[in-house]
Amino acid sequence: MTTLIQQTHVSVLGLGPMGRALASAFLTAGHPLTVWNRTPGRADDLADRGAAVAGSVGEAVASGQVIVACLTDYEAVRAVLDPPGADWAGRILVNLTSGEPAQARALADWAAGHGIGLLDGAILTPTPAIGTPATALLYSGEREAYEAVRETLGALGGTGTYLGDDPGRAAAYEVALLDLFATTVHGVAHAFALASAEDIAPEDLAPFAAGIGGLLSEMVTRFAGQLGAGHFPGERSTVASAATTIGHLITAATAHGLDVGALTAAKNAADRAVAAGFGPDGLARMATVLGGEGAGAERAAR
Ligand SMILES: NC(=O)c1ccc[n+]([C@@H]2O[C@H](COP(=O)([O-])OP(=O)(O)OC[C@H]3O[C@@H](n4cnc5c(N)ncnc54)[C@H](OP(=O)(O)O)[C@@H]3O)[C@@H](O)[C@H]2O)c1
Repeated sequence: MTTLIQQTHVSVLGLGPMGRALASAFLTAGHPLTVWNRTPGRADDLADRGAAVAGSVGEAVASGQVIVACLTDYEAVRAVLDPPGADWAGRILVNLTSGEPAQARALADWAAGHGIGLLDGAILTPTPAIGTPATALLYSGEREAYEAVRETLGALGGTGTYLGDDPGRAAAYEVALLDLFATTVHGVAHAFALASAEDIAPEDLAPFAAGIGGLLSEMVTRFAGQLGAGHFPGERSTVASAATTIGHLITAATAHGLDVGALTAAKNAADRAVAAGFGPDGLARMATVLGGEGAGAERAAR
C-alpha cells in the first residue's frame, strides 16, 4: 500500500542566487512550489522541475502555506509585501533576507499589524550548502510560527537554530557574524594587495596566509571564554605589541599608496586600549574598547 504524504506548499519570493537555491531545495524535498520574481525569466529551470511560476506576489501568497521571502534587503521585502494584496489567513511568512535587527523588529511589527505570522531568519552559509548537511540557519520570532514551519524548513538541510521570540535576534547574530566575515575578507584582500606591492606573487603568499586563517577558530573560542570571564591574560601576545605592529603595517602600506582605513581604525582602537591601561592585556581586551554598551564592555568594567 502506498501512503501519500501531503507536503506543505511553499512559495518563494525572490529568485536571486539564494532564492533559487532555496527553491531548488524545497523542490528536491518534494514540496509543491510556487515561485515569484520581480524580473521575469528567472524561473525556467525551476518550472521544468515542476514549480509553478506566479505572475504576481498576491498569486504566490495565495498559492502557498509557507511564504519564503529572500530578497536583497528589508526595503525590498516591504516594497513587495506592503500593502498585503492577498489573504494571509493560515499562512506564515519566513523572511530569509539579510538586514539589521531593527529592520527585522519593524517587519515583525508590520506583520503583527496585518495579522501575518512571521519567522525571521538568517542564512549563514553560501548557496552551494543549501539543501545539504552543511547549511546553517538561524531563526527568531514567534515560537508558534517557528513550530508551524520547522519541519518544512528542514528541506533546507543542515542545522536550523531557533533563538527565541525577539524577531531581531537572528539578524543580530547575522550582523555580528557578517562583521567578522566582511573585515576578514577585507584583511585577506589587503594582505594580497600589500604582498603584490612588495612583488610577492599571490600563490607564494597563500600557504602562509592560509596558516593564519587556520588560527581563527581557536582564537574565537579563546576570546569568547576570556570575554565571558572578563579576564584577559597577556601571556601569548599583548595589546601594546599589536599597536606597535599595526603601526609598521600602516607605514609599509602607505609607502605603496595603499588604502589604510581599516588598519588605521585598528591602530586607533589599540592605542585607545593602551591609553586606558590595557597595554599588557591579551588581544581579546580589544572587544571592550570599541564603544557601545556590549557585554564585553560591561563584563570588563566589573
Ligand atoms: N548569495 C548568498 O550566498 C547568500 C548567503 C547568505 C545570505 N544571503 C542573503 O540572501 C538574500 C538574497 O541574496 P541573493 O544572493 O539571492 O541576491 P540579491 O542580489 O541580494 O537579491 C536578489 C533578489 O532580490 C530581488 N529584489 C531586489 N530589490 C527588489 C525590489 N525592490 N522588489 C522586488 N524584488 C527585489 C531581485 O529581483 P530582480 O531579479 O527583479 O532584480 C532578486 O530576486 C540577501 O539578503 C543576501 O544577503 C545570500
